[in-house]
Amino acid sequence: MAPPDSEASRRRSLIIVSNRGPVTYDRDASGERIERRGGGGLVTALRGLLEHHDVTWIASATTEEDRVVAGEGGGDVVLVAHDAAAYEGYYNVIANPLLWFVQHSLYGLASEPDVDRAMHGAWRDGYAVVNRAFADAVVAELDNKPDATVFFHDYHLYLAPRMVRELRPDARLAHFVHIPWPEDWSALPPAMRDAITDGLLANDVVAFHTERWARNFTAGAGALGRTTVVHHPISIDVGEFDELAASDGVRRREEQLWPGRPEKLVVRVDRTDPSKNIVRGFRAFGLLLEEHREWRGRVSMLALLDPSRQSIPVYADYLATIERVASAVNERFGEEGWRPVELRVADDFLQSVAAYKQYDVLLVNPVYDGLNLVAKEGPLVNLRAGVLVLSENAGAYEELSSWAVGVNPFDLAGQADALHEALSMGEAERQARAEGLREHVRMNDVRQWIEALLADFDQAAARDYGVSARR
Ligand code: ADP
Ligand code: F6P
Repeated sequence: MAPPDSEASRRRSLIIVSNRGPVTYDRDASGERIERRGGGGLVTALRGLLEHHDVTWIASATTEEDRVVAGEGGGDVVLVAHDAAAYEGYYNVIANPLLWFVQHSLYGLASEPDVDRAMHGAWRDGYAVVNRAFADAVVAELDNKPDATVFFHDYHLYLAPRMVRELRPDARLAHFVHIPWPEDWSALPPAMRDAITDGLLANDVVAFHTERWARNFTAGAGALGRTTVVHHPISIDVGEFDELAASDGVRRREEQLWPGRPEKLVVRVDRTDPSKNIVRGFRAFGLLLEEHREWRGRVSMLALLDPSRQSIPVYADYLATIERVASAVNERFGEEGWRPVELRVADDFLQSVAAYKQYDVLLVNPVYDGLNLVAKEGPLVNLRAGVLVLSENAGAYEELSSWAVGVNPFDLAGQADALHEALSMGEAERQARAEGLREHVRMNDVRQWIEALLADFDQAAARDYGVSARR
């Protein structure tokens, strides 16, 4: 860990730019404004930066109340209220599903994607327009904070760095891609692929979670020019999670989590996203119950799912399939007094932390995942020497594989075997693995991630401008 007074860890002037901001505003039934924590791993990891650095966070207004807040202005979070039609094309057509599906290798290429006129229109009149609005907001903020480093995030904003670079040639720009970078981008027309690469190469630093994603990017990008490509796996704020785990809210949910819980609990926590492989997880659990009668009545799977992107048909269909397959497993194997699968679809972060404390097995089996923070959060706070079953296609596998039971996400039989292995594992081995995971997460908190990145920014600045980055 860098010492607290190191060059990299001093207070920095940062402009964070991401589609989803740290909080979302709504009104409750009585008309009072309420704040909700933004969903997903990006927000979990970046929220802590607000305390430690001089941060302005530029994000999209995603609710009606966000738009009201955007109009009020002021504060550390600048919400950009986009044109509604442009945002629709940007978020619901291009970013999700097109880019998300290409980057998580989710398309069955025989039938999709159809990059039709409407999709080209959404690229031009949606994705590019919203990226332009973000670029304009960044340039305006740079006028207030000319020394700031601009830190773009994720696949929503691939075009914005080039737009900013054209207006502010000397700006310090960095981009973190939180999702996989696949080898195969052939499902996108060349003009889109090239614009994405060109946009990213306008940054001084482009960063990924893992060596695998960084290598794929470098291999496909051609000449990198001024851009340094690095990889640092993101993490969580360990102190925040320790406090959360001990909080009254989590304790209350822990008490109510499962009255009369079965002997063993397999837990999963995910957004309802096709990349998370929730349906195959249920099928594998069904196969376990079919092949190992000894587990019937003794083990249940608790799936805590945060509803995600339900305005996009493929996401709504996926949630319907999740519900259908969970019911099918319950109908086939359920008995009086024992429900094999307990499915809870709700936005309840504290319940997720309560379940982390109580699992015997944590199933994280994504088709592909940039990293997956659940695989770090669970082991940090778990109280039962629980076993992590982890997909080899999650970025976190690069770090955690020696303590996890690895699975191939397509291999239903392999996942059923892995669940059996995890549920049957002896106490000493479970303790050793759980301890290894916990120590790794403790020693590699989100502060190590940001310090490593800030050091990369400094090196790039020293190289490009011949100055040490005293900013
Ligand atoms: P992704 O970024 O694709 O959603 P991750 O596993 O990396 O996947 O991150 C998911 C994050 O969402 C975790 O930090 C998890 O604790 C958090 N989370 C879980 N349930 C909720 C919820 N109901 N509301 C907000 N965040 C949640
Ligand atoms: O990288 C993970 C991520 O895609 C973030 O970019 C995003 O904010 C989060 O998951 C949740 O998705 P959404 O913002 O679409 O709800």
